[in-house]
Order: sequence, then C-alpha cells, then structure tokens
Amino acid sequence: MKPRLNISQTTDEVIAQLVSEFETWIVNGAPPLTMALSGGSTPKQFFHALALSPTATTLPWRKLHLFWGDERCVPPDHPDSNYRMTKQYLLDNITIPPENIHRIRGENNPNGEAIRYAEEIEQFVPGRFDGVPVFDWILLGMGTDGHTASIFPNDDPKVEPKGYCAVATHPQSRQRRISLTMPLINYAKRITFLVTGASKAEMAKQILKSPMKGLLPAAQVNPIHGNLEWYLDATAAALLSS
Ligand code: 6PG
Repeated sequence: MKPRLNISQTTDEVIAQLVSEFETWIVNGAPPLTMALSGGSTPKQFFHALALSPTATTLPWRKLHLFWGDERCVPPDHPDSNYRMTKQYLLDNITIPPENIHRIRGENNPNGEAIRYAEEIEQFVPGRFDGVPVFDWILLGMGTDGHTASIFPNDDPKVEPKGYCAVATHPQSRQRRISLTMPLINYAKRITFLVTGASKAEMAKQILKSPMKGLLPAAQVNPIHGNLEWYLDATAAALLSS
C-alpha cells in the first residue's frame, strides 16, 4: 500500500502535527485504545511535546493502554531503557492509570519475557483480525540501516510460539532486545513512522522509492487492513522528490 506522507518543514512542526493527530484520536476513539510506542531518540520529542501540550491534563488518558514496539533487555531504570525514556518524557507528566501501562520487562530472561509479553498483548489488546491482536496504533522509528522496532536486517530473532514477540540482537552492540514481530505489526489499524533528520534521508528514499525495498525491515511494514503513514521533517524527506 502507498503510505500517506506528512512532510513538515521543521522537526517541531512535524511533532506538532503528530501531537494534534494524537489528541484528536484519543478524544474521539472508543476505549480501550491500544497503542505501541517506539523507542530511541526521535519519539522523545513527541512525548515531550505531548506532555507539555495545553490539553495534556484534560486528555482522556484512562481510555489508553500503552505498549512498546520494542525494549532493550535492561532494567527499567537503565539509561538504554525505552520505558525509562517514555516515563521521563511522558508518563511522569500525565495521569494515565498504572494498570494501563504495559511495560516490556527488560530485566527478565529474554525468551521468557517474549512469551510473557505475547500473553499480555493477547489479554489487553481486544481487537482481533484473523484471530490476531490488532493494535489501534503503532508508532515506529527507523534506523539508518532500515531497521524498525528491533527488527534488524539479517538478524534471526527467536520468535515465541504465538508469533507476536521475538528476542532480537542489535547488530553492532549485540544487545538483546524484545520486539513485536513484523506479522503482528502489520495487523495494526494504523502504523505511523516518525522519521526526522538528515541522517535518515537516504534510507527514507530507499524504503519509500526503491523497488528493492522489500529486503529491509522498515520496508516490510505493510498493514494488512490498516493505514500506513510517514511523518517526516524536510531534512529526512529531502531525497524523496528526486
Ligand atoms: C529502539 C527503537 C528503534 C528506533 C530506531 C530509530 O528501541 O531504538 O525502537 O527502532 O526507532 O533505531 O532510533 P532514533 O529515533 O534514535 O534515530
């Protein structure tokens, strides 16, 4: 499917666009709303802007169940933890019920945690399509190597029996990660890539314009029945018109 592209001149503008989309979505959506968040540095700006938004204190956070698309296999207070980053920039600044926060427990044994998280998804994500849990919204980032979540090129992740989660290995650091699998991601109702910065321009062009794109994880994101969109700033989108 051809993704919808939202290109804004600056990073602040693209973040503001996404904040506005999120606010409309959480206000109008029927609960429970399920969203899986990305990690890394890009979403920090989104989480921060969301927490500082004038409406942050009045949004119906109780409707929302938050999950993660991936997590590093570290404790929740470790500097690498995606949960720690989300807690610092978003969770500590909003009134979301603790029971609505579905953290991947990076401190657990990775294989056991992949199994446990798949069960938590099955229990708390009510949407189904072909019997598979359907997230209402999945936010993804993209690495300069074309990875997304913790699905890395040429990795051979260990997928748990349900096929929803996997134990992956970062190609450089060899850090173990828990990640949603590509099949589960592709069942989501809405999938959004948030990609900013000049360093992502070449890969964004490859993924969005190249016939070889199917080989890279970010290019394998192709919702079965949902919508795919990219939110980019001008520097990340600089090579898309060439
Ligand atoms: C993670 C992310 C990962 C991230 C990309 C882009 O845990 O690191 O889920 O997939 O989205 O690596 O990271 P940046 O936003 O830091 O460029």
